[in-house]
Amino acid sequence: MRVIYLDHGATAFPRAPGVANAMVRFLDEASGNPGRGGHRLAVAAARAIEAAREEVAALLGGDPERTLFGPGATFWLNTVLASHLWHGTRVVVSALEHNAVMRPLRWLEACRGVDIAVVPGSGPSGVPTAVEVAACVAEAPTTLVMLSHASNVTGAVLPVAAVAAVVAPVPVVVDAAQTAGSLCIDFSSLGAAALVCSGHKGLLGPPGIGTLLLSPEFEVQPLVRGGTGSRSESEEMPEFLPDRLEAGTSNGVGAAGLGAACSWLRKRKVEVIHEHEQRLVRRLAEGLGEIPSVTLQGWEDAAPHTGILSFTADGVDNGELAAWLDRTRDICLRAGLHCAPAAHRRLGTFPNGTLRAGIGPFNTDADVDSLITAIRDAADGRM
Ligand SMILES: Cc1ncc(COP(=O)(O)O)c(C=O)c1O
Repeated sequence: MRVIYLDHGATAFPRAPGVANAMVRFLDEASGNPGRGGHRLAVAAARAIEAAREEVAALLGGDPERTLFGPGATFWLNTVLASHLWHGTRVVVSALEHNAVMRPLRWLEACRGVDIAVVPGSGPSGVPTAVEVAACVAEAPTTLVMLSHASNVTGAVLPVAAVAAVVAPVPVVVDAAQTAGSLCIDFSSLGAAALVCSGHKGLLGPPGIGTLLLSPEFEVQPLVRGGTGSRSESEEMPEFLPDRLEAGTSNGVGAAGLGAACSWLRKRKVEVIHEHEQRLVRRLAEGLGEIPSVTLQGWEDAAPHTGILSFTADGVDNGELAAWLDRTRDICLRAGLHCAPAAHRRLGTFPNGTLRAGIGPFNTDADVDSLITAIRDAADGRM
């Protein structure tokens, strides 16, 4: 039986058409070590990676020369934060940040004394307005503003372009793990200093690869240093990109898959995917909203949204309900804190968390209706 996959906040399933083929092709035909030799397989690997870089940059409005590949969003967030936050610096964040941001920040707070200022946001979703972020930035000299583009718990979209405009010249770093591929992003006009994306969520690529886009003015020091195949006479990292930030053998197979995914997304068009996910998530909100014992968490009808929706059902354990959905209804979604305890504290859903449905480009009305029916049955005691 077909699985009803509603966990796109965690990772995509299925991946974009063409991803698996591109990865197999890379392994079979282009699997030399890029930049480490002049023979045909090394050149083919380097070409495949550069072609993938072009695809990713074209989709997200980045400069291919400042579009970097690494193991994932977590790696790039750590890199940017550790590079810019030293003793005596201050960072401003929203109350909705993922642990991929908060854990490196708490570590930097403990070992470098970095000052972390959290903007709570005045509405029920915890999304701060640009004015609220600017007011927090104005309270003390600030090195960086670090914002999720959308909450991975509620799907609420943060006004990152408006923030970048009002806090300039303070650099704004955007964690687009939840939006890249499902919300149109033009990095060149966003006003952000850097944009970090996972390859395996809305971008529909494989796990194990993520990307960092840098604006022309914003530099980052490497978190990891090592061989690049270039300037091998030196024991210092090369100054030029991408080599400065891409030490070690590149994940060419991941890049090939991600490039194929971005090529498919460009043809399919992100605005069409966004429209589709919007319609389905609103259908879900409407259906679940009619069940008296269900509470939509952090949901605001008119607010900009991704395909994610969090909810709880009175008297039902989130984990048990998720397991029951999987076992009896073939519905896959996630229960718990979704690696974002700060967001749950802000929403009032800590420590039990929520059930999170994450809608993707291949979901249908029938998928959403199956979830609504199942939750209604569970709420009526048929679990
Ligand atoms: C908002 C947000 N940021 C960062 C990450 C980390 O992404 P990755 O696990 O791909 O490194 C996630 C993953 O769930 C996320 O939702």
